[in-house]
Amino acid sequence: MTIRVPELIERKRNGGELTDEEISELVLGFTRGDIPDYQMSAWCMAVYFKGLDGRETHALTDAMIRSGETLELGAALGRRVVDKHSTGGVGDKTSLAVGPIVAACGVPFGKMSGRGLGHTGGTLDKLESIPGFRVELSIEEFIAQVKEIGLAIIGQTGDLVPADKKLYALRDVTATVDIVPLIASSIMSKKLAAGADAIVLDVKVGDGAFMKTLDDARILAEQMVDLGRRAGREVVCLLTDMDQPLGAAVGHALEIREAVETITAEGPPDFTELVLDASARLLELSDLGVDVDEGRRLAEQATTDGSAREMYERWIRAQGGDPSLDALPKAPVVREVLATRAGIVTRLGALKIGIASLELGGGRRTKGDEVDHAVGVVCSAKRGQTVEDGQVLADVHARDEESAARAAEAVLAAYEITDQPPRSHHGILIDVVV
Ligand code: URA
Repeated sequence: MTIRVPELIERKRNGGELTDEEISELVLGFTRGDIPDYQMSAWCMAVYFKGLDGRETHALTDAMIRSGETLELGAALGRRVVDKHSTGGVGDKTSLAVGPIVAACGVPFGKMSGRGLGHTGGTLDKLESIPGFRVELSIEEFIAQVKEIGLAIIGQTGDLVPADKKLYALRDVTATVDIVPLIASSIMSKKLAAGADAIVLDVKVGDGAFMKTLDDARILAEQMVDLGRRAGREVVCLLTDMDQPLGAAVGHALEIREAVETITAEGPPDFTELVLDASARLLELSDLGVDVDEGRRLAEQATTDGSAREMYERWIRAQGGDPSLDALPKAPVVREVLATRAGIVTRLGALKIGIASLELGGGRRTKGDEVDHAVGVVCSAKRGQTVEDGQVLADVHARDEESAARAAEAVLAAYEITDQPPRSHHGILIDVVV
């Protein structure tokens, strides 16, 4: 089929629909390099304003999957395969804890992860703070490791969904990232191409997330569940709080440490709750034949009997890393942030903490930037907590005194301390969409 791209842009701009074939040609033509960036950008902007319906979103996802290879991980392992994905937030190290727990319970966990984007951190960057750890395994090595030890987390290979790689880079620089059908198709095309039978999604909601409101998060969750269903996969979507950072630690090595503490039942309460809940749901969707309550019991047991920690160490060694926490890089300057009044922490802005960590060197300003794995912020006081005047709210881990002072100011500004309890009463888990 031959398409006339300006006519497709115009039709979408005017609120019309595109056929499945037109969407397919558009995506495949763009991936081949036949359709230039400027036309695809204009189409994305038209979609930003006029949206895509369920059929069009499905067609887009399907074309993105067909732009590259697909992986049959389930067939290679002879097992039902489960996967998880988060839409990204501040302090989100969930996969680093969920992976070892689920694998320790006997369910293979092979996941492809991404790098940080803007103020949000990426699992691969966090893993690279472990000396020697390799994120770039070949597909054969990946499958062999999941078979042998039950756990591998690697970078997305360029062969899977190349359309998303190109389209995402374009969206990132044309203000077309935060639109539901494009996010849904971007995430689900990668999950479906990686071959999972069942997927637990974690849609973050709040000021540190792409989805700022619960209504938008719910629409995104419903679209992703629908895309999964159309592809014959089971999808459960958690809506979780990203108005404040997840757990205490924000920053690569600091988050690895917190993930390891959490798989040995010594993690912060909100992060522990999310990790156990997501693990329980993954176990329920697996071929173990357990319900969510039994899954929760198994997950908790793996954190208390040492099996999750043991699995973590085997996994890190298998990918060339040193699993000892002493091997993690440490920032030379650690500066305390003190409360300037007594009261209750009413707000702890996730976005502000994410940006403070980015400015300490933990994030990228441009695509090729190196990240500093040692720096970050540990927020020991969280929303709802009562604090004294002069109490330590957080620690800033910095490369030098100057950046520490700047970050300390930014972290203090992220805290709102009043005499009133916070308005939001929900815990980390706000809702579940199935
Ligand atoms: N994460 C993705 O993988 N894609 C998006 O579009 C947004 C977040």
